[in-house]
Amino acid sequence: MSFLIRLATQADAPQAVRVVKAVYDEYGFSWDAEDYHADLYDLQSHYFDAGHRFWVAEQNNVVLATVGLHLFRPLTGEVGQIVEHENQRRIGGTDCSLERLYVHPEARKAGIGQALMRTVTGEAKSAGKRTMEIWSDKRFEAAHRLYQRFGAEVIADRICDDPDESPEWGLLIRLY
Ligand SMILES: CC(C)(COP(=O)(O)OP(=O)(O)OC[C@H]1O[C@@H](n2cnc3c(N)ncnc32)[C@H](O)[C@@H]1OP(=O)(O)O)[C@@H](O)C(=O)NCCC(=O)NCCS
Repeated sequence: MSFLIRLATQADAPQAVRVVKAVYDEYGFSWDAEDYHADLYDLQSHYFDAGHRFWVAEQNNVVLATVGLHLFRPLTGEVGQIVEHENQRRIGGTDCSLERLYVHPEARKAGIGQALMRTVTGEAKSAGKRTMEIWSDKRFEAAHRLYQRFGAEVIADRICDDPDESPEWGLLIRLY
C-alpha cells in the first residue's frame, strides 16, 4: 500500500477529525469537540503556533492517519519518576510527547503506524529531545506493541481527563 507522510496544515483539520472520530466510534468512546478533541479542529493554534508538530499520512489526497508531537522543556523530576504537572500525572524528565496517533480502521496493518512512529521519533531527535512520554488508553493493545518496538517502557498508569475517564498506560521512550 502506498502512502505519503507530510506535515499537516490547518486545511487538514476536517480530515484529521474524520479519521480520529472513526477510531472513537469503532471503540465506542465519547466524542468531545468542545474540549478534549478541540485541538483537532484548530491545529493552527494547538500545534503550529505553539511550536508543536502534526503530520498526516495520506493516499490520493485522502487522510488515513494522524500523529502529533508536543515539544517542551524537561518536566521536573528524574527521568521516569512520576510527577504532578498542572494537575495531571506525568512522567518526570520527559521533554516531548507523542499525541493523537490514529490510523483509520480500513488502513491498518500496512505499516503506516510504524512509519508515523519513525517520523515522530526522528523529528524529536532532530529537535534535540531525549525522552518521549506517551499516555495511551489501556485498550489500545496494538499501539502498545508498536511503541514497545520503538523501545517504549510502561512506567505508570492514570485516569485520563477525557469524558469517559479512560484508564491509560504511561510509557517512556529514550531517544538516545
Ligand atoms: C496502533 C495503530 C496506530 C497501529 O497502526 P498500523 O498502521 O496498523 O500499524 P502498522 O501497520 O505499522 O503495524 C500494525 C501491525 O500490522 C503488522 N503489519 C505491518 N505491515 C504489514 C503488512 N504489510 N502485512 C501484514 N502485517 C503488517 C505489524 O507487524 C503490526 O503487527 P502487530 O499488531 O501484531 O503488532 C492502529 O492500530 C490504531 O490506530 N489503533 C487504534 C488507535 C490507537 O491505538 N492509537 C494509539 C493512541 S495512544
